[in-house]
Amino acid sequence: MTKPEILVARAVFPEVIARLEEHFVVESNQRDDSWTQEQFIQKLQGKQGAFTTGGDRIDAVVLAACPDLKICANMAVGYNNFDVDAMTQAGVIATNAPDVLTETTADFGFALLMATARRMTESEHYLRAGKWSKWSFDMFAGSDIHGSTLGILGMGRIGQGIARRGAHGFGMKVIYHNRSRLSAELETDCKATYVGKEELLKTADHVMLVLPYSPASHHTIGAAELSLMKPTATLVNIARGGIVDDAALASALAAGRIAAAGLDVFEGEPKVHPDLLTIPNVVLTPHIASATIPTRLAMANLAADNLIAVLTGKKALTPLN
Ligand code: GLV
Repeated sequence: MTKPEILVARAVFPEVIARLEEHFVVESNQRDDSWTQEQFIQKLQGKQGAFTTGGDRIDAVVLAACPDLKICANMAVGYNNFDVDAMTQAGVIATNAPDVLTETTADFGFALLMATARRMTESEHYLRAGKWSKWSFDMFAGSDIHGSTLGILGMGRIGQGIARRGAHGFGMKVIYHNRSRLSAELETDCKATYVGKEELLKTADHVMLVLPYSPASHHTIGAAELSLMKPTATLVNIARGGIVDDAALASALAAGRIAAAGLDVFEGEPKVHPDLLTIPNVVLTPHIASATIPTRLAMANLAADNLIAVLTGKKALTPLN
């Protein structure tokens, strides 16, 4: 029997490519070349499967040009690069990579919160620049994590992981807002209280964004929302670029409207709003919340498992449609 053909759009672990090659004829991109949409379509034509990452867009144009496609497996939990409705219409299965990254990403969210509230990168830059000549009582004084109020917008698995860390590890009061309320059992487990979005923004000492991106969540945090937050508050975005209006955030940070922000994701990344690069009270990281080797390997293997299952006539493990 001839093996199905698949395209792996980005460089990935060689052992995952080797696994895929046991089942498929694989065209990979181990040099991690950047392809135009035309090049991507050209390479995808005639393939039954695609291994994608969050930057590889699958939409009606791609689907119309690639009628042999049966499955696109995203090596990411977020899937705003997929037009899932168009994929469903075209009979293409979409899968993402949930669960395997939950705890790693929650760890990172917490690390970014702590680095931001306690001004770690700002003070490190000061030290490295040779500016530290003497200690002073309020030098780089930040805000406390322990005992403070953590507001989580978006209470999926990662949000719950962050809530547990805050409530059980740091004695934080956790409030959250989500499209749907958690079960009473999960609320107890996370020690989290459901509140409206406005109340969350007004009362949280630290606001953590973990909601998925969609046109409905575009600019969930803009100038109006930032103006509701405490001037001493911290904002952390580990969700997706576009959930925050980065220009409005840069203005709010520069004006001291909120104390600090920690951002792992950006509108139009890998470009970053130029003002964010010069403002001191922001911690910036390049979309690395799930980046540990075991977790990235598990994400890649889950994407591979989905491709293998679907293209050998079985059910997808983590289907989106
Ligand atoms: C990373 O951003 C992911 O969605 O997995």
